Amino acid sequence: MRLAKKLCTSLLLVLALLIVGVYIWECRNYNGVVYHSHQKYGKVEISRDQYAIPHIKAKNVYGASFGQGYAHAQDRLFQIFLKTKLGRGEISSLKGEAGLPYDIFFRTLGLQRIAEDIVAKLEKEELEVIQAYCDGFNFYYHSLSVKPLEFVISGVTFQDFTPVDAIINERIMFLLLGYEYIWEPIRTNLANQFTEDIAIKMFAGSSESQFVEVTVVDDEDLKQENLYQKYIKGKTFSKRANFTEQQKQAYLSTSIQDVLFELLSVPNGSNAWVIHGNHTKSGKPLLANDPHLSNTIPCTWVQNEMLIEDEGIVAIGSSISGIPLIQNGRTDYAAWGTTVLFADTSDLYKEDIKDNTYLVDGQWKELKIIKESIKIKGKSEPHILEVKYTHRGPLVSYKFDKFATNPLIDLGFSASLCWNGEIRKSTLVSSVLKLYRAKNHQQVLEGFGHIVGPVLSVVYATADGNIGFYGYGRIPVHKNTIHSQFIKDGTTTEQDWVRFTQPSEQPQVHNPRKGFVVTANNKFATDNLKGYLSANLISTPRAYRITQMIEEKIKKGLKFDIEDMKRMQADTVDSYGQDILPYLFKIFNSKAQTVLSQQEYEKALRMINHLKDWDCRIDANSYQATIFLGWEYIFSKSLLHSFNTTEFDRYTLTMGPQFEHFYFNQIKKWSQQVNEKDFDQFWCKTEENKNQKYSCLYNLLIAFAQVEDYMTNEFGTSDVKEWEWGIIHKNNYPHTAFAKIPILKDIYNRQVDSFGNRRTVAVSIQNWRGGTFESAYGANYRMVVDMDKQGKDYWIVDTGISESVFSPHYDDQFKIHKDFGYVNMERGFSYFRQNKKYYQTLEYLAPQTQNSNKQNNSEL
Ligand SMILES: *[C@@H]1O[C@H](CO)[C@@H](O)[C@H](O)[C@H]1NC(C)=O
Ligand SMILES: *[C@@H]1O[C@H](CO)[C@@H](O)[C@H](O)[C@H]1NC(C)=O
Ligand SMILES: *[C@@H]1O[C@H](CO)[C@@H](O)[C@H](O)[C@H]1NC(C)=O
Ligand SMILES: *[C@@H]1O[C@H](CO)[C@@H](O)[C@H](O)[C@H]1NC(C)=O
Ligand SMILES: *[C@@H]1O[C@H](CO)[C@@H](O)[C@H](O)[C@H]1NC(C)=O
Repeated sequence: MRLAKKLCTSLLLVLALLIVGVYIWECRNYNGVVYHSHQKYGKVEISRDQYAIPHIKAKNVYGASFGQGYAHAQDRLFQIFLKTKLGRGEISSLKGEAGLPYDIFFRTLGLQRIAEDIVAKLEKEELEVIQAYCDGFNFYYHSLSVKPLEFVISGVTFQDFTPVDAIINERIMFLLLGYEYIWEPIRTNLANQFTEDIAIKMFAGSSESQFVEVTVVDDEDLKQENLYQKYIKGKTFSKRANFTEQQKQAYLSTSIQDVLFELLSVPNGSNAWVIHGNHTKSGKPLLANDPHLSNTIPCTWVQNEMLIEDEGIVAIGSSISGIPLIQNGRTDYAAWGTTVLFADTSDLYKEDIKDNTYLVDGQWKELKIIKESIKIKGKSEPHILEVKYTHRGPLVSYKFDKFATNPLIDLGFSASLCWNGEIRKSTLVSSVLKLYRAKNHQQVLEGFGHIVGPVLSVVYATADGNIGFYGYGRIPVHKNTIHSQFIKDGTTTEQDWVRFTQPSEQPQVHNPRKGFVVTANNKFATDNLKGYLSANLISTPRAYRITQMIEEKIKKGLKFDIEDMKRMQADTVDSYGQDILPYLFKIFNSKAQTVLSQQEYEKALRMINHLKDWDCRIDANSYQATIFLGWEYIFSKSLLHSFNTTEFDRYTLTMGPQFEHFYFNQIKKWSQQVNEKDFDQFWCKTEENKNQKYSCLYNLLIAFAQVEDYMTNEFGTSDVKEWEWGIIHKNNYPHTAFAKIPILKDIYNRQVDSFGNRRTVAVSIQNWRGGTFESAYGANYRMVVDMDKQGKDYWIVDTGISESVFSPHYDDQFKIHKDFGYVNMERGFSYFRQNKKYYQTLEYLAPQTQNSNKQNNSEL
């Protein structure tokens, strides 16, 4: 009975939702005339193609920004609202006490305080364009006659979007792109328990410890740009803070990352490359870009075009929701695509605190204290937070563990966080406007040089044939430290930041002789870059593979076209896998029979035999991919058991992109090794192998035997042909807010059988740490651009333009994206009404003649 009742309620709920949904969708209409009261913005037109991608046309930049704010609100009102609340530290006011850890984190960083300070000092055009975006955004909400469904379901109240909120959204990007505050605690923990040398090796933090080194800018490029300075090894690493025994034993680990991983997209990867006209069929450059974020539905990217009549500007590309203008895209003259640069833009300093003072250079200085009052839904009293600052930044004294009853866990010491998001200046709009307006190569470079942050890598191409790379955004320069790898000693100013890089010091190369540039989050320059800013970074297998594909074709004298660019974005070869397999075979042939029992050997042999004629493509229908990646999973789980930390944090390291350099290097060495001591090392020891003479070889070989049982269990069959990678490697698209709520999650979430892994160009990272092969990560936006006048451009996002689950545009691109399809990216004034499905105008009407803000649908 109860079940029937429950079912009935559920059905009713779904039905009610459907009715409301259709009604709401009616309101998110893309047609007709809407009247606004901002004379300044005049008439704005928005046409939308069959995927409802908005093309916005206005007389001037203010009108265009107004229209963009309006369009973003039409499609992403709730997403932007939530993201902003998070950045403001106001989640508790929506969710009650459960939101407190997030709010404490974001209030400690003080994005809102920083943003207010910045907005007060913004230049006129910068502020007015941002204000126009906000006006358009708010105008949309206030023109609705009913609340959007997502607001109804979650019972939250809309608040007007302000320029402070736009800057908060910008600073969220600074935060997500500054990785060192995540890695420093893990490295420090490793160095505390073992040695600094081991910590650096396991993090591949030097050229020698990389499996393959592929840099964006090579020595020849550096010399061409006058940025070459020979690197001298040694005494460049930061001095680690001194920890007491008690602090070492304390649960020291990643302090703040989980807050972010839990709630936000983590834009930690991307591919972008550009090929010079010397190597293309048309003689003009080709550019490709696919940024990778954690999947969400709707995705973070919004495709759009801005047409600005009085300046003749045609700009098309993707924006990050909640941020004005276009972040990755093109104009008639220039195209640009970004990836994460991975420069060191954040540092932790261990502080010596007594009462409200901290010790620095022998003196006790006052901490600056700011009180924050956090409203909690359902409670009459707010939570009062005291944020304490050293001259470097706010004190962080906790780590976050979402599984604990009190998720904020005392670190056992205080560290101040110094990060580039504190820079009290934003060029969010002015730098993009410089790109919009650029008519020659020099002006494009000025646009990049103008950017304060976030720190990104950009590749660009121009209509007159230039290509290049620019590492933009200000990178901190330390007083006496070059590679700041560990948590540093705060009692001295010796390792403080003293300034930021100037445009002439930023890593860059223009029209390199090699004829192309590849960026895929790999080390941005060889160690010989002046200032040595890249010397402790890792290369990536994606950059290795893309470079391989381009060089191969150039060597053969073949020319590229746009279809080649698409094919490369769809490439599923695991390039490190390709290199490592021969070593695995060699070790297996020479050692498996001595290390494994007969029965284990036979199992392992069955598995490894399947890999013999495999092309190393991680395709959704490949069973070899399942065997290989299953082997790697079991192997990496067996490593570093002597590292005293949580299992989750150990896997963050051993299953992460740095550590694969370390263990692949070791495997290579074992296959060539005559010194048997190398087969048995401290980081291979486990309970299971304690009686084994060669602990490392045992782990490696037994993992092949174990993968058979593991996958038989996983698939429910021992027929390997049925072990298709896509079946266990589903790619998930969880909804921004309702991903885990019963019933709603079935309506809002999406899932697909997927190709790829962390190393493939067509990326899709399995969440091994969570003990699953599933993914929630991929190339959320793909764009390929041809600088030839006759050329065609293409784009695609992984969900759809609309966040409204009842809209046909909620997931219409999802279906194309999963098969590596694209949508035409047509731009320009003459295309504005061509091939369009919807058309809407926002018209100015003086307040006295305006009888209502309602839609006027009679046009259709
Ligand atoms: C890990 O912890 C155990 C028990 O507390 C201790 O015996 C061991 O020495 C620690 N290992 C390291 C590398 O610190
Ligand atoms: C580290 O701290 C310990 C205990 O406080 C002290 O004995 C030692 O001298 C310190 N080492 C350094 C290098 O400062
Ligand atoms: C393109 O080819 C021309 C003619 O061979 C050569 O002078 C130029 O350096 C090449 N440029 C690049 C970037 O490859
Ligand atoms: C991206 O972040 C996720 C955590 O959200 C992590 O598992 C993954 O290893 C990261 N990937 C890269 C390429 O840094
Ligand atoms: C609606 O639009 C039509 C055609 O553009 C126009 O004739 C009519 O006056 C408009 N109605 C209102 C209420 O603005």
